Amino acid sequence: MQPAKADWSPAIETGLPEIDAQHRRLFELAATFRGEGDQIRVMKSLAMLSDYANTHLRDEEAMLRAIDYPGLDAHCEQHRLFRAMLKALLDEARTLSLDQIAGRIADLINGWFYHHILTVDAEYVPAVKAQRGATGIVG
Ligand SMILES: [Fe+2]
Ligand SMILES: [Fe+2]
Repeated sequence: MQPAKADWSPAIETGLPEIDAQHRRLFELAATFRGEGDQIRVMKSLAMLSDYANTHLRDEEAMLRAIDYPGLDAHCEQHRLFRAMLKALLDEARTLSLDQIAGRIADLINGWFYHHILTVDAEYVPAVKAQRGATGIVG
C-alpha cells in the first residue's frame, strides 16, 4: 500500500534535535525537485539527497546501537529497504523524465519516509529519551 504523501510538519518531530534537523533537511532537499529543472541540476540534487539520506540512516542506526535498542534489527531492515529504493532510483534516473524523478522522490520522501518517521522512528523515541535522561544528556 502506498502511504499518503505529506510535507514536513511539527507532527513528525521526535523531540530529538539532531534527528529532527536531519529529517527536516531531507524534506527540504525533496522539495527542490518540484518545479522547473534541468537534467544536470536534478542529477546533482539526487546525489545530494541520496548522500544525506544515507548519512541520516547511518547516524540513526549508530544512535540506536549505542543504547542497545531491542528493535534495532527490524529498524535496520526498514532502512535497508529505503536504501534499496533510493539506489534503484539513482540507477534508473538517467532513463526517467524530470517529472518522473520528482514523482519518485515524492513517493520516497513525502510518502514512505514520512510514514517511517511517524511509525517506526516514533517507536524508538521513548527508549532514546529514557537513556538520555539517565545519563543527564539533554535532548
Ligand atoms: Fe529510521
Ligand atoms: Fe529517521
